Amino acid sequence: MDLKTKYLGLELKNPVVASASPLSQEVDNVKKLEDAGVSAVVAYSLFEEQISHESGELDHFLSHHAESHAEATSYFPEPEEFVTGPYEYLDHIANLKKAVDIPIIGSLNGVSAGGWVDYAKSIQDAGADALELNIYYVATDPNLTGQEVEDMYIETIEAVKKNLSIPVAVKLGPFFTAFANFAKRVDNAGADGLVLFNRFYQPDFDLEKFEVVPNIELSGNWEMRLPLRWLSILYGNVKADLAATSGINTGVDVIKIMMAGGKAAMMASELLKKGPERVTGVLTEIKEWMEEKEYESIQQMQGSMSQKSVAEPAAFERANYMKALRSYKA
Ligand SMILES: Cc1cc2nc3c(=O)[nH]c(=O)nc-3n(C[C@H](O)[C@H](O)[C@H](O)COP(=O)(O)O)c2cc1C
Repeated sequence: MDLKTKYLGLELKNPVVASASPLSQEVDNVKKLEDAGVSAVVAYSLFEEQISHESGELDHFLSHHAESHAEATSYFPEPEEFVTGPYEYLDHIANLKKAVDIPIIGSLNGVSAGGWVDYAKSIQDAGADALELNIYYVATDPNLTGQEVEDMYIETIEAVKKNLSIPVAVKLGPFFTAFANFAKRVDNAGADGLVLFNRFYQPDFDLEKFEVVPNIELSGNWEMRLPLRWLSILYGNVKADLAATSGINTGVDVIKIMMAGGKAAMMASELLKKGPERVTGVLTEIKEWMEEKEYESIQQMQGSMSQKSVAEPAAFERANYMKALRSYKA
């Protein structure tokens, strides 16, 4: 049975990739992930704010929103609250590379095209096999248009791509007006991969303390329906490799992502809940499913259930929406 897949030009032994999470903070856990069979690891992110803080550069926020900058920085965690600073991050990438044979994908997390993007080159020099650029931005300013937000993303991607020879995947959130068009713009800006989707950590209110609490809920596998749909829609419409993140918890989830057109299925919550060893179980579930359904390779299923052959995807989506609503029996 052939589980191989090619993602960002990397030959992966299977599609199960560990998504950026605290698991990659310990070399030992990354070794455990490798032993359990994971095909690549995305390291936790180095944040633009960490780099800007350390270098004293402080041009990290939207340039046309400089006046909000001083106030905004007070929201950010103090540097000591991060496990590592920028230099330690580079050392950590080099250490991970030394410790394991599987590809290590570095992760930069930011939003604007400032001097911090030079760190992309440093991550490459530290030995990362590829870079994941996570652009996480909640567009709260009512005066900022969709076009401006998208342009800001594109500028950041171009700035990162400019000096790199390793492949760059871009991790995005789902909240864009015309996502298919935006994905194409990201593709044209040179992204080698699209990682869909960032989970937005929705804050709650604590009514005892009258505080906003940005606590993290680990995902459930119904959440993978969002990337599943968008991989299906984008497959064949962008050159970049597609990878899914959010809600992938089982071997069957991974297979669905492959059928939609994914080259990699990334997991964080499930591995945080059950430990790195869970990867072995997921791989067994994939193999059992393939045996039962007589599939010989992952490649043969990639994109087979995408919307590539659907003549009118938008009409198809509406038809499915109506069908879903009507199928509910009260
Ligand atoms: C505790 C925690 C820390 C995370 N840290 C990062 C990070 O540093 N960089 C990043 O791009 N994503 C980070 N993520 C997001 C995950 O990589 C992943 O995209 C998201 O959790 C959805 O996948 P899941 O449903 O498998 O958890 C983090 C997620 C969790 C739960």
